[in-house]
Amino acid sequence: MRIIILGAAAGGGLPQWNCGCANCDAARAGRIPSLTQSSVAVSADGRTWAILNASPDIRMQLAATPALHPTGPRGMPLRAVLVTNGDIDHVAGLLTLRESQPFDLYATAAIHDALAANPMLAAVNPEFVPRLTVALDQTVELTPGLTATLFAVPGKVPLYQEGAVVETGLMGETTVGVELRTADRRALYIPGCADLPEWLRARIEGCDALLFDGTLWDDDEMIRMGLGRKTGRRMGHMAVTDTMPALAGTTIGQRLFVHMNNSNPLTDPASPEAVEAARQGWQVGRDGMEISL
Ligand code: MLT
Ligand code: MN
Ligand code: ZN
Repeated sequence: MRIIILGAAAGGGLPQWNCGCANCDAARAGRIPSLTQSSVAVSADGRTWAILNASPDIRMQLAATPALHPTGPRGMPLRAVLVTNGDIDHVAGLLTLRESQPFDLYATAAIHDALAANPMLAAVNPEFVPRLTVALDQTVELTPGLTATLFAVPGKVPLYQEGAVVETGLMGETTVGVELRTADRRALYIPGCADLPEWLRARIEGCDALLFDGTLWDDDEMIRMGLGRKTGRRMGHMAVTDTMPALAGTTIGQRLFVHMNNSNPLTDPASPEAVEAARQGWQVGRDGMEISL
């Protein structure tokens, strides 16, 4: 199994257009790597690929990834796109993929409902891009030799569907993790997750690779830094400082954080936090990073 991190940042990216925090300034100045928004590509055979989450940066992500370049005038190695929630950073890239190019679009019924409610996405013509509904715990073959099973993880509805009261530990079809399997490898992709209950730890146990929600280092870092009013918990993301101890003692081939917000000190490879994460066995995802299992 090959996994390429197309974009390692959370919504907004690094730098974020309206942010002058130390990390965003450092990324603009080239002192730390810039990161595009949340997406990975996966393949079993290296010739046909699935993309998990279509970020607003997908156009440049595809251009930067030779494995995903066209193979002919209208030939693409891309066979499938799967989205793990309806958040804008995970679905807005679908608008870019509208050029009558065939691929299968997989999501749960609830996520498909969110997409169907957006009239602009009608431009992604179902004649070329069938919208395939995947039930929780159902396994589908995304590309030859590569299957995906979606499972509910604690999360919340997309920002644009939030009502007056928001449940942030919602279990259902709105936020899912993906279990990826080839003949002899198993990887888990969970870019958004509000909590790590024992059943999820058990599901993770023994996998060859885990790509997990690394949105925030501390639950309250955005408030502390004057960047926002919300905690990570309110946004449906558990903090790295809670995730690392929760998964200590779990057997995992490679553990990586993805979906980092620009406020997260892990985005600076020289930060004490990045050093600490490495000490605890975690890699920090970067754009273009490839994991071969
Ligand atoms: C999130 O992951 O919390 C969302 O992408 C936030 C957003 O929609 O901007
Ligand atoms: Mn996001
Ligand atoms: Zn910033």
